[in-house]
Amino acid sequence: MSLPETGPSPLLLDRRRLDAALEQTLLSDRHTLRQAWQRLGDAPAEDARRVSFEKRLAASQARFLARQARLPKIEVDTLLPIAAHADEIIRLIQKERVIVLAGETGSGKTTQLPKLCLAAGRGVAGMIACTQPRRVAARSVARRVASELSTEVGDLVGFQVRFTDQVSEQSLIKFMTDGILLAETEHDPWLNRYDTIIIDEAHERSLNIDFLLGFLNQLIQKRPDLKLIITSATIDTQRFAKHFFNAPIVQVEGRSYPVEIRYRPPTESRDESRGQALMVALDEITREDPLGDVLVFLPGEREIRDAHRQIEQRRYRETEVLALYARLSSKEQDRVFSPGPKRRIVLATNVAETSLTVPRIRYVVDTGVARISRYSHRHKVQRLHIEPISQASLNQRAGRCGRVGPGICYRLFAADEFIQRLEFTEPEILRASLANVILRMLSLKLGDVGRFPFVERPEERALAEGFQTLTELGLITDDKRKLSAEGRLAARIPVDAKLARVLIDARSRGSLDECLVICSFLSIQDPRERPAEAKQAADAAHGEFADPQSDFLGAVNLWRAYDAAHQELTQSKLRDWCERRFLNFLRMREWRELHRQLLLIVEELGWPLAAEPASYEAIHRSLLTGFPSMLGRKDEKGQYHGTRGRKFQVFPGSALAKKPPQWLMTTAILDIQRIYAMTNARIEPEWVIDAAAHLLKRNYLDPHWERSRGQVMATNR
Ligand code: CDP
Ligand code: MG
Repeated sequence: MSLPETGPSPLLLDRRRLDAALEQTLLSDRHTLRQAWQRLGDAPAEDARRVSFEKRLAASQARFLARQARLPKIEVDTLLPIAAHADEIIRLIQKERVIVLAGETGSGKTTQLPKLCLAAGRGVAGMIACTQPRRVAARSVARRVASELSTEVGDLVGFQVRFTDQVSEQSLIKFMTDGILLAETEHDPWLNRYDTIIIDEAHERSLNIDFLLGFLNQLIQKRPDLKLIITSATIDTQRFAKHFFNAPIVQVEGRSYPVEIRYRPPTESRDESRGQALMVALDEITREDPLGDVLVFLPGEREIRDAHRQIEQRRYRETEVLALYARLSSKEQDRVFSPGPKRRIVLATNVAETSLTVPRIRYVVDTGVARISRYSHRHKVQRLHIEPISQASLNQRAGRCGRVGPGICYRLFAADEFIQRLEFTEPEILRASLANVILRMLSLKLGDVGRFPFVERPEERALAEGFQTLTELGLITDDKRKLSAEGRLAARIPVDAKLARVLIDARSRGSLDECLVICSFLSIQDPRERPAEAKQAADAAHGEFADPQSDFLGAVNLWRAYDAAHQELTQSKLRDWCERRFLNFLRMREWRELHRQLLLIVEELGWPLAAEPASYEAIHRSLLTGFPSMLGRKDEKGQYHGTRGRKFQVFPGSALAKKPPQWLMTTAILDIQRIYAMTNARIEPEWVIDAAAHLLKRNYLDPHWERSRGQVMATNR
């Protein structure tokens, strides 16, 4: 290129000088500025395009300088273990593209690292993003860091979670949930708003985190100006380092006191007794030390509310009881982080395991369980169950009481159970239905699933099965690369893909009300109990709700009866109501909870419920869309023949066992001594033709000339 010797703006005609000028602009402007500059060619100074280009360049530079001018003075809390590594970390940020930072909970990773990034010169050309697995953590940490930097939330430090966005043009640091960052990749695949990205709590290995780590593995190769920091509890750090081209690992040592472990298993094995075991442990703690703060780990909000009520009845002296879970108002959160003079019992879900450090804790009481979503290979749907947590999680929880002095952790299960637990929590991608994983990846436009750089690749077979399920459901296009219209809708419904498909159909067929009940029912463990000593009494009680043609309608009947009882009865009366009918009280509540969640989802989507009850046909046609290949036709001997040559019988517990229909649909075929269809309904064969048109292979048999019609006729199979 020939450069003119003179001219009003020689600076901008020189690529080298352009680069220098761009250094002092915002990252998000650089690409378009460079393109605009290239299009200018040797347009003269007075050319309108050049004038506009220079204006834009100057504006971006001004914004850059304004951000730079507001860089706060950085002070690291010297009491935190991370302080000892501050200089080393700053140096590594400047030198390396990716760093892995490992350290125990409470060592100062989340609160101090973004500040160290500022000290290393990051955060001006683009923001420092810091992702959190949970909303409550993003919000609370933003407030903390804002106050450490003497600024307001929304000014130098902002945060964004679902439904709340407090980030401004001045913000240098932005905390957010990993879900928000993932959603941003869809619209801005370069993430140019950020010059540094911190993936915090990577050891949690949720799907969101695994998607981000795969996405960032690709992005870091395309964006040399980007810095990436992966932080994690001291679990599996090598895996992260390897995933990012052998990134250096910084290990921050925790400072903690010894924790004594006491096992206090419930005396009975029933579910409800976990609550009683908790009270026994709290009484013991209160007797020995009426002043020490206690942190209790419970599986969910519902259990927190129950425990809250029970503890209040204990009337411990000078004690306040607080809750800590994901959907907590900021005022309630503040109370958790600023203890007053009273002794406190904090009831928490696993947010308090590693994301948030509750101060002043001397005792931990651990139920040893959490609510975990898992794909059931038996039932072929994704379910949410309360499950035993891993040894790693148990140890994390125990560690929460060894921060201010020696602590005591009560575990509400037997000592020998500990070694039976999994060593580490399985990452979500290995627990999830791959159909759902693929659905989300396609909707996030994460590219070719086969070539995606997973941190931990699911098995090929599982991926293939996932694709097959999506094809069966008609949620992906034939070349498996894109979502169909239904697929795009299904991706917005956070439930199993099969159930999402049912709900989509139910919406247009007027059967949404019933299908919400049925879908939530299919996501819980069957609440009907059949104790060995009272089988007949149980069957008789359950028979009250049964529908001879459809177990699904049976579930709807049960729901309606329970719903009415729920409106009228007190908690304890409702418990009796359930027990008398051989219904597991907790599972019924779980059902109600899931139903409520599904209802909220469809309300958010703006899907109306029909005013009239839906017909048998409508309900089952909707169900068939989610289970299009789960069919059977009865032969003369009463044996059912399913798709792919499967043979089975109706399970004796199904209401259809007495009078099995010619054609049936089922949602689960289990191999227990014999092969049984568990939850079933009578259908008409032509309903299938609509629901599964894309899967049918037509065989034309016996073509013949039919004289009366003057046509060739054939039997269509
Ligand atoms: O991320 P990591 O677990 O390593 O530690 P952190 O969250 O940065 O916490 C460092 C310290 O800040 C702990 O002592 C917390 O108790 C405190 N902190 C706080 O007081 N209020 C918050 N909202 C967050 C942290
Ligand atoms: Mg943290």
